[in-house]
Amino acid sequence: MSTTGRLFGLGVGPGDPELITLKALRHLRAAPVVAHFAARGKAGNALTIIERYLAPEQIVQPLIYPVTTENLPPPFCYETALATFYDESAAIVAAHLDAGRDVAVVCEGDPFLYGSFMYVHDRLADRYETEVTPGVCAMLACASVVGTPLVYRNQTLTVLSGVLPAEELKRRLADTESAAIMKLGSNFAKVRSVIEELGLLDRAHYVERATMGNQRIAPLSSIDPASVPYFAMILVPGARWAA
Ligand SMILES: C[S@@+](CC[C@H](N)C(=O)[O-])C[C@H]1O[C@@H](n2cnc3c(N)ncnc32)[C@H](O)[C@@H]1O
Repeated sequence: MSTTGRLFGLGVGPGDPELITLKALRHLRAAPVVAHFAARGKAGNALTIIERYLAPEQIVQPLIYPVTTENLPPPFCYETALATFYDESAAIVAAHLDAGRDVAVVCEGDPFLYGSFMYVHDRLADRYETEVTPGVCAMLACASVVGTPLVYRNQTLTVLSGVLPAEELKRRLADTESAAIMKLGSNFAKVRSVIEELGLLDRAHYVERATMGNQRIAPLSSIDPASVPYFAMILVPGARWAA
């Protein structure tokens, strides 16, 4: 019989602590170890969302990103730094599992949608019993706070990373009826010019920190690019369907 712990990937929703599922909450409360990703010096959104649900005896295991921007000057390589970090994070989690402790890795939104848990999952899921609990993703939280349906009938929704080059964003946006553009931050100005070039400015919505205490919704044209955080998104909903 196996004595190793079980690995749980828990989606904890987009920000509002009430948007965690009953199942994720049950697994969270039962886990002796709760691991979370965060930038250096910050608690991180996932921990902030679930902190209130933790008991004092639970071990909180931070996994701290070495870098938080993809635009690193040479000789640094973002991909190499991240791959090493995910190897090390997986080893930290595996040490708890080998000691027989279940580990819940909490993930803002859904774990399998651009979630850092994916990289731990890729490294450990074939070695340990693993269960993933989906979460309310940020894209859907943004649609709900803006109050806009995303896709009608047979429309296509494209999920894009704002890190992509302008030409690629333009090509993909031109070929879809509805889009969510994530990972804004310093990519905002580039993304907005593409949207403007395609004549989509009037249909686009800007949402920052949806469902969190400091949520901001504003017209795209009014946004100062220097003020845009990483936790922001642009939605271009599908045109309303009228029979
Ligand atoms: C690494 S991805 C994580 C996505 C998450 N796993 C999900 O299911 O939504 C981070 C990106 O998600 C978006 N995001 C996450 N939470 C958000 C929120 N509360 N409001 C707006 N955008 C958010 C931002 O575009 C951010 O750059």
